[in-house]
Amino acid sequence: MKHLAIIMDGNGRWATMRGLERTAGHAEGAKAVLRAVEAAEQLGLECLSLYAFSTENHRRSKREVLGIFGIIAEFLDEVLLPYAMRKGLRIRFIGDMSRITSELMSSIARVNAATINHTGMTVIIALSYGGREEVVHAVNLLIENKLLNGDYRKISYEELEPYLYTVNLPDPDAVWRFGGYQRLSGFMPLQTTYSELFFSDKLWPDFQAEDMFALAARFAQIKRNFGEVSQ
Ligand code: IPE
Ligand code: IPE
Ligand code: MG
Repeated sequence: MKHLAIIMDGNGRWATMRGLERTAGHAEGAKAVLRAVEAAEQLGLECLSLYAFSTENHRRSKREVLGIFGIIAEFLDEVLLPYAMRKGLRIRFIGDMSRITSELMSSIARVNAATINHTGMTVIIALSYGGREEVVHAVNLLIENKLLNGDYRKISYEELEPYLYTVNLPDPDAVWRFGGYQRLSGFMPLQTTYSELFFSDKLWPDFQAEDMFALAARFAQIKRNFGEVSQ
């Protein structure tokens, strides 16, 4: 497995079950992110993608949205950046950053600039990300470029791909959703067409490194065909 993509769901329920505010679940979820990054490195993955906040999550209360953005900014500056500097990780962000706070945008810019030339594992954080938004954004850029060049020919997927937020990243080999639901909620619709799907009933803050080692072992048993006849 080169690229594992995780949908980190269940933070709110984790907190509510304990009589805590939902934001306490998001803070606990951030701790699980570090465990996931460490486990992915131990497994020697090239890429770990983490769905942190969706286009639709903007519809939540202002209090929760700002709480989440604050927790992510603090996590980036105080935990992930120092860790990435020690380990040589490259941190990339995908999504519509015009909709996040300037505080979070500064953290992202810092982390991105400081790790862009690193050669270790790539961590992709999907933030204010939605697959439909990504596709529409890509198509608009592509059309704009083609019109500027007076090019009216039909396009191929290969031409569209460089306009996706995930340009130059391998497609996820596996998608793993926590929190009990079996849906993708807009996560990388084009990139996951041949990904193996895994679902865990565990709430994201309960994630442990051993869960990922077990998943990697399961994945290793799976034969992928990509449409061809399996031998
Ligand atoms: C995932 O946890 C984090 C985000 C979507 C931001 P939720 O906040 O969706 O947690 P549940 O699903 O309500 O438990
Ligand atoms: C999916 O969780 C998105 C993230 C984990 C960021 P949601 O809680 O937003 O998904 P739905 O609304 O249950 O589909
Ligand atoms: Mg949820």
